[in-house]
Amino acid sequence: MKFDNIVERYDFLNHLFSFLQDFYWRKVMVRELKPLNGTLVLDLATGTGDSAIGLVKEGVSVAGLDLSLNMLLRAQKKIPHPNFFALVGSAYHIPFKDNTFDGMTCAFGIRNMHETSAALKEIFRVLKKGGKAVFLEFSMPANIMRTPYRYYLRRIIPAVSGFFSIREAYEYLGDSIEKFYNPEDFARCITESGFRNCEMRPLSMGCVYIHKAHKK
Ligand SMILES: C[S@@+](CC[C@H](N)C(=O)[O-])C[C@H]1O[C@@H](n2cnc3c(N)ncnc32)[C@H](O)[C@@H]1O
Repeated sequence: MKFDNIVERYDFLNHLFSFLQDFYWRKVMVRELKPLNGTLVLDLATGTGDSAIGLVKEGVSVAGLDLSLNMLLRAQKKIPHPNFFALVGSAYHIPFKDNTFDGMTCAFGIRNMHETSAALKEIFRVLKKGGKAVFLEFSMPANIMRTPYRYYLRRIIPAVSGFFSIREAYEYLGDSIEKFYNPEDFARCITESGFRNCEMRPLSMGCVYIHKAHKK
């Protein structure tokens, strides 16, 4: 999936399709990162920087890494702050030395990384001992919400997105959410990549999950 082509309406559609809950989800992610042992955070798949903004406001320095130059250009424009720097790069080869970061956040990014374990091992490598990783990702709720949510992903989002952006990109969104790990399996992947104390927290009735883990 190419994010370069959907930058224009990306933020607007995030807010619209989440009924503005994305602001809350990102706030929780930033809160879950605390307390940190230092001030250097990697925001992986930073996109247009909506999570990085919250991190910078907390006084940390943020390296925003993403594959998409266009997304990063938007992020840089939105965050003209000396504590934020954006760089193009892949989660599979994070362009930093071992043990660099005190924390890592990744909002709605890991689902797009099909070699999940390779990405997790890279994140583990660049975190310092004692560092913390926090993932925010969509999930298919395992409750009464499951059927209406699936309908929303398969029918409503693609139909509405066609008016504003590239419909196929938003068909991919639902598809990728349905194919992604369930929260327990994703927690297992995190632990198998070397992390310890993986904790999960559902948000919005399990449509979104936070996973938090440590490098010991
Ligand atoms: C759904 S967007 C999320 C962006 C942002 N974190 C947010 O919360 O709005 C997913 C982002 O992951 C990036 N991405 C996908 N695969 C990647 C990879 N292997 N390495 C780095 N970034 C990647 C895409 O370019 C895109 O900007």
